[in-house]
Amino acid sequence: MEVIICEEYEAMSKAAARDIANVLNTKPNAVLGMATGSTPLGLYQELVRLHKEEGLDFSQVTTFNLDEYVGLSPQHEQSYHRFMHDNFFSAVNIPRQNIYIPSGTTSNYQAFCEWYERRIMECGGIDVQILGIGSDGHIAFNEPGSSLQSRTRLKTLAKSTIDDNARFFDKASDVPIYAITMGVGTILESRKLVLLANGSSKAKAIAEAVEGPVTSMITASALQLHPMATVYLDAAASEQLKMRDYYLWIQDKKPGAPAL
Ligand code: GLP
Repeated sequence: MEVIICEEYEAMSKAAARDIANVLNTKPNAVLGMATGSTPLGLYQELVRLHKEEGLDFSQVTTFNLDEYVGLSPQHEQSYHRFMHDNFFSAVNIPRQNIYIPSGTTSNYQAFCEWYERRIMECGGIDVQILGIGSDGHIAFNEPGSSLQSRTRLKTLAKSTIDDNARFFDKASDVPIYAITMGVGTILESRKLVLLANGSSKAKAIAEAVEGPVTSMITASALQLHPMATVYLDAAASEQLKMRDYYLWIQDKKPGAPAL
């Protein structure tokens, strides 16, 4: 796993955006895995800037989102459909028919989840999956105890996740209790993983995910099993890493390594 530590949120977002843009430059029809939450907002802003000012083209891109709340319509202000539309899709040129987001209102969740997994495969698999991390160490909505081989399915959210996300709703009782989420196994099949975290509230989860044992209790620790995972952090999110100086050393020296 590669750990990149940046001073500020903005530098972290820009570094991750460069990584995604490099994938698109080498594979213009790449399949991107999208994440929601406040963390990737800066990354999306930078990708929009690259699109508008530097011609980064999304016209052949396909996207699959990680998750959606059960019970929220695509128009609901707090749905992940709405989040993606408002913060990214409305500002870039991804064809509408290439955008996939789990349905929070299907009448048959089991069938929907199976179809979603099939669509990912039919589109050639995800080239790069963007991820945030919950304060309990979850990725997507894979709460503690989720199998590291889990697939897209309906999940019951942990009380701590509902509390964390209550800030986006009028009251805590409005936060959905269930979500549909890609599984850890689904995520691990992506060719490349890019996880972002900022702020000291994520420092403990990051230390456990990066340096702790691989465990279903911290589903982000599954990134240790992936051959191409990069974790982008701001200074605050990196503060509990025991090997912080080592990551900074590697980050400094790696660009000078002999070319492959
Ligand atoms: C939710 C999402 C995750 C996200 C997490 C953290 O639980 N399902 O994908 O990583 O929130 O959100 P934030 O970036 O707002 O801290």
